[in-house]
Amino acid sequence: MSTKQFDVVVIGAGPGGYIAAIRAAQLGFSVACVDEWANEKGGPAPGGTCTNVGCIPSKALLQSSEHYEHAGHAFKDHGIEVSGLALNLGQMIKRKNTVVKQNNDGILFLFKKNKVTFFHGRAAFAGAAGADGYPLEITGPANETINAKQVIVATGSNARALPGAPFDEKLILSNTGALAIDAVPAKLGVIGAGVIGLEMGSVWRRLGSEVTVLEGLPAFLGAVDEQIAKEAQKQFTKQGLAINLGVKVDSVTTGDNNVTVKYTTAKGEAQESVFDKLIVSIGRTPNTTGLNADKVGLALDERGFVAVDGDCKTNLPGVWAIGDVVRGPMLAHKAEEEGVAVAERIAGQHGHTNFDTIPWVIYTSPEIAWVGKTEQQLKAAGTAYKSGSFPFLANGRARALGDTTGMVKFLADATTDEILGVHMIGPMVSELISEAVVAMEFKASAEDIARICHAHPSLSEATKEAALAIDKRTLNF
Ligand code: FAD
Ligand code: NAI
Repeated sequence: MSTKQFDVVVIGAGPGGYIAAIRAAQLGFSVACVDEWANEKGGPAPGGTCTNVGCIPSKALLQSSEHYEHAGHAFKDHGIEVSGLALNLGQMIKRKNTVVKQNNDGILFLFKKNKVTFFHGRAAFAGAAGADGYPLEITGPANETINAKQVIVATGSNARALPGAPFDEKLILSNTGALAIDAVPAKLGVIGAGVIGLEMGSVWRRLGSEVTVLEGLPAFLGAVDEQIAKEAQKQFTKQGLAINLGVKVDSVTTGDNNVTVKYTTAKGEAQESVFDKLIVSIGRTPNTTGLNADKVGLALDERGFVAVDGDCKTNLPGVWAIGDVVRGPMLAHKAEEEGVAVAERIAGQHGHTNFDTIPWVIYTSPEIAWVGKTEQQLKAAGTAYKSGSFPFLANGRARALGDTTGMVKFLADATTDEILGVHMIGPMVSELISEAVVAMEFKASAEDIARICHAHPSLSEATKEAALAIDKRTLNF
């Protein structure tokens, strides 16, 4: 049997890999994508961390748990009396799994539509590049060797475990276990007050857990604009998340049905807490296991990421790497942008990823979203800036929704008025942030946004008003 030959082979079908494969196919290349993720029946489950145990299932559970919380608390204010409210956790998890499956199937459909050949299995470099490109050995449900003129490594990341406390996904949970708990834990511990800790902590708190968060750093959400982070901490604490900052975790031990965490508080006091489950969300590590990177001399950096230049080129000719397995924020949309850019570079085009305008969203309630520089970054850089903010309390749509928490905040250059950063906390800011991203891509000034007609009543009027606030001309506050 002759070895199958492809112009481009993508290893990994997460948001970075599957998008790169589709874009490469659109550009006329013969493309294969190899992914090893299996569903519970052993079948292919493309979509990577994002689709299977990340973005998609977490947002499904965040939505369901928010409905539950609203039915229990917020509906009354709207004149809707609910009696006999009950949680069917089995159904909630089943719905989440269905949403995941729809996304897996969607990607398989897109591969067919775009004539991308999909292999379900693990791909490894089988040797140096020959005349036909790199030989790649696929093992798993699919077993064969294929040749690739160009290889895009998009193998993603894995949850980082605490030293001495490996994930068992029953008591010590990574994101995988945190998305599949079968009974609401009475006491839930969360180590790491980052994005996963806050999102998953919110889900289980809404469903009834008493949640204690233990964070190593003394500052809450250090990468977020300080004013927004302060408001977020206030809101989450009010909701019942017990957030402990500056904590040093000393040990984690499991019993039959519980986990004991010994830690030292910021004040230096020794503490011990016993939890029914413990989520460890202290960051993620790049996944290069099984690639056989050393066999071909694919260089990794000192932190284990595949080493790449600004164009996602590795040290090997014709080998590229994108997404969580390379430097930069571990975000699905960053991975996608890099995937598109690399496919276009392979085609000789000028693919581009603008790291300065990658938006961040934390899907808690209130949601947190931002793009560009924070106030503390501008101060540290000595940039002269103006700040303007507008509270949702003064926004008609937010009042009608019954959710007036938070604000929109603009930071603009003091001289040119160019928007340098936009920071939001409040209802649906995951959607509102796009306007700020577009504005920054086009190098808009705050005045540009302030002069654009925004629909009334809409949450987006808070964006316009915050832009007006830069020049102290808010109309509704
Ligand atoms: P991955 O999605 O990790 O995909 C890599 C794929 O490669 C996997 O399917 C893996 O099985 C496969 N693979 C690895 N090695 C091999 C091999 N040798 N052969 C074959 N296949 C291989 N980001 C956001 O932007 N928004 C969010 O809301 C968000 N929520 C998240 C929630 C959670 C709980 C987590 C854990 C992450 C979340 N993220 C979110 C981050 C996001 O999931 C990642 O940034 C994104 O998945 C990275 O995409 P990727 O394509 O680089 O890698
Ligand atoms: P994270 O980097 O967001 O947060 C980790 C937190 O753990 C930090 O606050 C860190 O200070 C703390 N920490 C680290 N070691 C610790 C220790 N030993 N003890 C106590 N605290 C410790 O990482 P997280 O939450 O695991 O998420 C991983 C990545 O996944 C995120 O950085 C993000 O890129 C992505 N993600 C994105 C989401 C989104 O876009 N909405 C949602 C979830 C994840």
